[in-house]
Amino acid sequence: MCGIIARVGDGDALAELMTGLRNLEYRGYDSAGVAVRCEDGIDVCKREGETDVLDAALVERHLPGSVGIGHTRWSTHGPPSDANAHPHTDDDGRVAVVHNGIIRNYESLRRELREDGHRFTSETDTEVVPHLVARELDAGADAETAFRAATDRLEGSYALAMVVADEDAVYATRHGSPLVLGLGDDANYLASDVPAFLEFTDRVVYLEDDDVVVLDDAGYRITTTAGDPVDREAETVDWAAGDAQKGVYSHFMRKEIDEQPTSLRQTIEGRTDSTGTVLDAFPPGSLASIENVVFVACGTSYHAAMYGSTLLRRRGVPATAMRANEFAHDPMPMSDRTLVIAVTQSGETADTLASLRVANESPASTLAVTNVVGSTAAREADDAMFIRAGPEVGVAATKTFSSQVAALALLADRFEEDGAGIEFGREPRSKQATARASTTDGGVDAGTIRSLPDDVETVVNDGRAARLAKQYADADSYFFIGRGVGYPVALEGALKFKEITYEHAEGFAAGELKHGPLALVTPSTVIVAVFTGQDDDRTLHNVREAQSRGAPIIGVGPESATEIRDAVDEYLPIPDTDPELAGMLANVHLQLLAYHAAEIRDRAIDKPRNLAKSVTVE
Ligand code: AGP
Repeated sequence: MCGIIARVGDGDALAELMTGLRNLEYRGYDSAGVAVRCEDGIDVCKREGETDVLDAALVERHLPGSVGIGHTRWSTHGPPSDANAHPHTDDDGRVAVVHNGIIRNYESLRRELREDGHRFTSETDTEVVPHLVARELDAGADAETAFRAATDRLEGSYALAMVVADEDAVYATRHGSPLVLGLGDDANYLASDVPAFLEFTDRVVYLEDDDVVVLDDAGYRITTTAGDPVDREAETVDWAAGDAQKGVYSHFMRKEIDEQPTSLRQTIEGRTDSTGTVLDAFPPGSLASIENVVFVACGTSYHAAMYGSTLLRRRGVPATAMRANEFAHDPMPMSDRTLVIAVTQSGETADTLASLRVANESPASTLAVTNVVGSTAAREADDAMFIRAGPEVGVAATKTFSSQVAALALLADRFEEDGAGIEFGREPRSKQATARASTTDGGVDAGTIRSLPDDVETVVNDGRAARLAKQYADADSYFFIGRGVGYPVALEGALKFKEITYEHAEGFAAGELKHGPLALVTPSTVIVAVFTGQDDDRTLHNVREAQSRGAPIIGVGPESATEIRDAVDEYLPIPDTDPELAGMLANVHLQLLAYHAAEIRDRAIDKPRNLAKSVTVE
């Protein structure tokens, strides 16, 4: 949700700022702009549209200077336009500011500044900031004092970076929006996310809320809002620059689908052995006192959370997944034996962070399952489990879903080993476990989890989804159905499909179809049915109900399921595995189906309209 970058160092800033913006474009692509400190002030160039449009404008207008800031926008206040693009400046162009977040009290600040004679040229909330700073400068403050005084007036969430006309320095701060410092040999950087400057340095300092940072010739300084020095440790990130680049691929999404065998190996590595699950952060017994689990998450992460909650319930742990935007305002009752698990790829999703904060205020303990070390979720939760999927750039989440599910499957096994949860009302827990074992061919064991990357590779290399995407391109609607762990996968399949094809797609619990949605089913409704090897006969029954209304059926399920294969029109096979993991394998076919369907329609696959990868506003 908007990406910001700043750079101070030797040589020209512009090329590195543009690289940073291209690497941050997944956070928003409505407009882009840069401001560079030049000999006689600040040079600003900004354009509506993607960074390519800005690039074209800069061909005619090089901005020389070694200090600068940049921004790529996802619109909140004011539509995409040149005027609403960042950086924003004061009346005299002495101050330029880029911002990620929302300034809630901007209307009253605007009124106040207008009364003081300030003129506004955009509809954004951000524009109040350079004017506030300019007013302080007019009153005789130096740039740092003016910046502190201005940010002191702001309510809401922000990561801000500022340049002023007469100094080779950048001033920045964060409050509820991410900002990370990159320490290079010849330059230092500030950005919303590490991939922005990963080509230049892998040494980072994760900033905390209300840190004020000054980058200048002398290096960097971090202080509190009161001006007291703060010592923050520098870390080396283990992501390689190439991980966040497209390479030979035409889309990040396709690259990230193909990366799943590798990313899953990273997720699992060192976390299983012949005795079962090895989770350093959760040694045996550490989850024994947990009585119930509430997952909070959004979008794809919510579907992974649903998947995880199903695995926990099957292990005797009362668990539910709630959409974070609902939980934050209507939370589940929590006790000191409740664990709230925030599942979030970015660790920066505002709705999920709001839920985490509600949980942190309660007696419950909290855990973040996230991809980003140093993210706000990782820092604010009591514990963090990293999914280690590597950077994901495509707006449509793919490899991180698989890694989230694998991480939650490992965690579920630790819950089971610890005997967390409660006895089932109807039958003793041991009987439950036996029942599960008999339906799932022994439950998920460490060996089965370890074979996941190879199984995913088999699916990734299967070309059938491309043909089906073409064959069914003219359908009116696409319904995805599944049960058990196949249900969140159906929801995820539909989300992915609608997100990047802009076609009508919905996900349903297979058994729910007959309670209403069946009324919409016609021969132009493609039904994509997920089979996992568990309760498939029931799902097949639901499929037949749709089939008898003329709907074509694409089944996705175990290789050996001949009855299903014979019953459906088309079949996308997955290697036979534990039914609890089969859903994740089926999902890879659904990712490919969505990808190819979007490719046929020539959609902006990595940057679907109206969306951004990291949703940092509520
Ligand atoms: C899915 O393809 C989307 N990118 C979106 O639903 C995403 O999963 C959601 O916004 C949550 O993001 P997070 O995992 O970073 O919290």
